[in-house]
Amino acid sequence: MREKINALLKEVEAFSAENLEELENFRIKFLGKKGEIPALFADFKSVPPEQRREMGQLINTLKQTVQNKIVALKEKLDTQTGDQETQLDLTLPASAPLGSRHPLSIVRNEIIDIFSRIGFTVSEGPEIEDDFHNFTALNFPEEHPARDMQDTFFIEKDPDLALRTHTSSVQVRVMEKSQPPIRTISPGRVFRNEAISARAHCIFHQVEGLYVDENVSFTDLKQTLFYFARELFGEHTKIRFRPSYFPFTEPSAEMDVSCNICGGKGCNICKYTGWVEILGCGMVDPNVLEACHIDNKKYTGFAFGMGIERITMLKYQVNDLRLFFENDLRFLEQFTAAR
Ligand code: DAH
Repeated sequence: MREKINALLKEVEAFSAENLEELENFRIKFLGKKGEIPALFADFKSVPPEQRREMGQLINTLKQTVQNKIVALKEKLDTQTGDQETQLDLTLPASAPLGSRHPLSIVRNEIIDIFSRIGFTVSEGPEIEDDFHNFTALNFPEEHPARDMQDTFFIEKDPDLALRTHTSSVQVRVMEKSQPPIRTISPGRVFRNEAISARAHCIFHQVEGLYVDENVSFTDLKQTLFYFARELFGEHTKIRFRPSYFPFTEPSAEMDVSCNICGGKGCNICKYTGWVEILGCGMVDPNVLEACHIDNKKYTGFAFGMGIERITMLKYQVNDLRLFFENDLRFLEQFTAAR
């Protein structure tokens, strides 16, 4: 019996399995009901008493060796098949669904495109602004209500930092560090302490425009914005200007475009007027040029500012501004075809 066990031990030690099936056969051969080990235990009854201790230990060693072997080989085979599964098959066809750009990004890029074609550069400024760049340099009187806690998210008093309430602050930054001719647009995020509704949000996006040079006139402003409106909404788009007020422009105006939904005939988007308001604009107030160290005797300029959400809503007929911020795929997936 001793020889037999030793021979089996050698066999077990030398064994190796190529796959799980071979390993299972090995297990059955040794541990199965009619396997070697149960057979040895059966024969054990006929072992003379003085050899029992030794034979018992030998059989147990054999059994333990078989079990250890099975565990080790199983682990090895499992990790091997695991490796195969995680290996990349580069010949598989690509089936990942296409993502889409956010509608606000689509429209922002389009606005940037339109203005770059007529020589405007893109500039950016910080979202955390000081009072000077957001208000004072833009000719806001000391007591102006826009400085009120109602509208502005203040961060700290000294130094006076707040989240910018408009991208007009970037005008100031650009003029501070460059001299005319300046032709730039500034897209960016702005913040106002407003209740969230279908038409308003506390975070939204604007594009600011600024053109400063010698002899820049209101005619240049109108022609530039006329070109812009037609590029964005189509060649039959009409524009009109209504007098308005902004501290940083004089004169100031608001620009309407003919309603792109009904073509000016009247619908619920334009509230049956045929016109929708899209931006504020005007001639840069000489005080603003002066605050930014630009010679206001030599140079004039125009500026404009528009909300990207509002324009996107008009362009894609979105009726609730909150949709832009909820990241609902059912909404976003509708823009996969756009660039
Ligand atoms: N900053 C204004 C706003 O947030 C928009 C604006 C109006 C910008 C007139 C301008 C401008 O540059 O000339 O409502």
